Amino acid sequence: MEFENKVIDEAIQGTAIELTNQGGDGKKKLYLESYGCQMNFSDSEVVASILAQDGYETTRNMDEADVILLNTCSIRENAEQRVRNRLTEFKIKKENNPELVVGILGCMAERLKKNLLEEEKLVDLVAGPDAYRDLPNLIEEVGTGQKAVNVLLSRDETYADISPVRLDQGGIAAFVTIMRGCDNMCSFCVVPFTRGRERSRDPHTIVQECQDLFARGYREVTLLGQNVDSYRWNLSSKGEVKNPEEETTNFAQLMEMVALVSPELRVRFSTSHPKDMTDDVLEVMAKYENICPYIHLPVQSGNTDVLYRMNRGYSREWYLERIDAIKRIVPDCAISTDVITGFCGETEAEHEDTLSLMDIVEYDFAYMFKYSERPKTLAERRFDDDVPEEVKGRRLNEIIDKQLAHSLKSNKKQIGTIQKVLIEGPSKRSEEHLCGRTGRNSMVVFPKGTYQKAQYVMVRIDDCTSATLMGEVVSVC
Ligand code: SAH
Ligand code: SF4
Ligand code: F3S
Repeated sequence: MEFENKVIDEAIQGTAIELTNQGGDGKKKLYLESYGCQMNFSDSEVVASILAQDGYETTRNMDEADVILLNTCSIRENAEQRVRNRLTEFKIKKENNPELVVGILGCMAERLKKNLLEEEKLVDLVAGPDAYRDLPNLIEEVGTGQKAVNVLLSRDETYADISPVRLDQGGIAAFVTIMRGCDNMCSFCVVPFTRGRERSRDPHTIVQECQDLFARGYREVTLLGQNVDSYRWNLSSKGEVKNPEEETTNFAQLMEMVALVSPELRVRFSTSHPKDMTDDVLEVMAKYENICPYIHLPVQSGNTDVLYRMNRGYSREWYLERIDAIKRIVPDCAISTDVITGFCGETEAEHEDTLSLMDIVEYDFAYMFKYSERPKTLAERRFDDDVPEEVKGRRLNEIIDKQLAHSLKSNKKQIGTIQKVLIEGPSKRSEEHLCGRTGRNSMVVFPKGTYQKAQYVMVRIDDCTSATLMGEVVSVC
């Protein structure tokens, strides 16, 4: 079971990937590695763009790099541990090449600030998520023999004017960040401390970026924010207009603007928050065929008292009502979730409530985690992390077992149906097969025939596992 936990944990954490746009000679070389959520991957593309302006080109080969940057995650203890291990490896590299600049970006940079520079002497440079425009200066400072740090958080930085360098050459699916930061203060979560206050990006720059992506052959965009439902342009948190001279845009309207870029451009979004997800968002989803019928709606726990301790802002009943609204307004919508087991004070009965909620909703997919206490969070200050490790582990396994059964059931229901699939490329397991996703976000594998990446095809589903659908193309769209 440990293996499966790891797989599931890595699925959300994102396996660390090296990112590159191109090779080439003569330019300074940047090696970028990203950990954590989709937001970090999207930020790495902004970083690559800022440094490209300064004459850097990304490389896949860390041995030829002049600068190594790790875009890091603090969400759980083990996410930070992975980065520390990696930094120790780079320390050895640096001993052989003193000119090499090693820096950390992202959430760990913000959380640990100068520690990694001063106490542990693992890096030369530390830049928080709102300080990327300063990277050329910071690298220059390191060049003059100093250690460089900028971890200032901003109330308005959205990198709106920066056109990200897409690091997956010939890609068809891109992340587009629509907002930054988070104002929610869930008691277990480090993100408000590492990413700062919530701010939304100018909708016109978002639409422009999606139009550019479409023109360059991309066929899918995922609009990213920690809580996309609270996206608001020129609107206060109470929904009042801030500047009467200017237009206002909420998330439902933004999604409609992006859906209108082209019916051939698929639109996804993440993450929705149960306390803020409104029916108008669901209605826009139902109206446009190219908005994928898939919602990631993290529940965290199925028990109202635990949700209260988590400061999530909704009850079990409220959450289930939102699920009913999805099923009513977008009938065949896939739903996934995040669950934390063993949060402070979680009793056996409270854990049972999470299992029973899973039975009611029957999620298509879930990311499941053991609670990991994070410094400075409300939970760390208010509650004891008192559920023993082995109890957390056993509860996690029960939840994973249930989810695997539900995922299998959900996939079996697709057998015999015909699904529209956007081809992503060759299947990882076989050269004779291609793979792609349905609108509901299921991965489908099918014989390659003469079909091409970025094409839409109709696939008849013949078989499945709990993770993948298998089928055969019946027509081209
Ligand atoms: N903004 C998103 C979540 C971002 S973090 C939302 O509100 O849903 C992604 C997931 O990591 C969370 O949904 C939660 O399930 C998990 N997570 C966050 N902090 C955690 C912690 N301290 N321990 C374990 N899991 C955590
Ligand atoms: Fe963290 Fe809650 Fe914000 Fe999500 S909504 S990022 S869980 S504080
Ligand atoms: Fe991790 Fe920061 Fe994302 S803590 S999950 S990289 S917002």
